[in-house]
Amino acid sequence: MSHSRVSEIRHVAYGVVDLEVERLFYTETWGLEETAASDGRVWFRTPGHDEPFVVKLRQAAANRVDLIALAAATPADVEALAQQVAASGARLIHGPRALTSPGGGYGFRFFSPDGLPFEISCDVARGPQRELGHWDALPRRISHIVLHSPDHQALVRFFTDVLGFRISDWLGDFMCFLRCNSAHHRIAILPGPPCLNHVAYDVPSVDSMMRGIQRLRDQGTNISWGPGRHTAGNNTFSYFVTPNGFAVEYTADLDTVDDDRHVATVHVPNKQVMDQWGIGTGGPHTMPHPKPDAGLFQPVED
Ligand SMILES: [Fe+2]
Repeated sequence: MSHSRVSEIRHVAYGVVDLEVERLFYTETWGLEETAASDGRVWFRTPGHDEPFVVKLRQAAANRVDLIALAAATPADVEALAQQVAASGARLIHGPRALTSPGGGYGFRFFSPDGLPFEISCDVARGPQRELGHWDALPRRISHIVLHSPDHQALVRFFTDVLGFRISDWLGDFMCFLRCNSAHHRIAILPGPPCLNHVAYDVPSVDSMMRGIQRLRDQGTNISWGPGRHTAGNNTFSYFVTPNGFAVEYTADLDTVDDDRHVATVHVPNKQVMDQWGIGTGGPHTMPHPKPDAGLFQPVED
């Protein structure tokens, strides 16, 4: 087991074919705030958290994941994690150095064994944040990221043995929920072609999630799956698809666990375990069909 651990999720960067429509979605519909834009790139923050940005969009020839950024506590942790990643055989994009993205910081980049690009950083500047109210249907922060992998057991081992995540729960033998702090999960891994499944955003309450569903529907984005409440993590969910085809989620009520003592359980998959309410529309079959990400092993400069 590694000594230095990832401590949080920071942001996701996407290349998108239609930048302007995706930009409008994230601001007008999803509730993020634009913080900077230049040369076909746009950065967005959540109103409810001090992370300098949570989404970056870039005009691209194909829709793809440009980067998944994670946090570590200290420069020593960043350096130790870079060594752990290199020792695992995963490909480094660059070693620890000063970062040029908004908020700066110190970090390194690498490809996961499947080829998705990652960053681990520390000392990133803090931005403004405000308290969100119970009915504010606005994202507080990124809650979790779900990935597919052609060898999902091997990717789980990469996240636990190399990056220091801990297993919180399994759904059968096919979906693993992983934590890096007291949040029940920040990453989950499913079988499938190497790609992102979805990115979830915490909203302040179930009422906020429901009001958010109303706003999305009023603005022409219907719910793809939900509303419902999962069993692993006990969080509520509602899934949508962005104009360029990426799945996003509003979630609330995610369990907090004792990071050192939580005992992983295996949930036997059935309809009621997937969704304890069972009143929503759609299901996993109405989510975007996973296909290999268009950017595997192709790094993107800031
Ligand atoms: Fe989710």
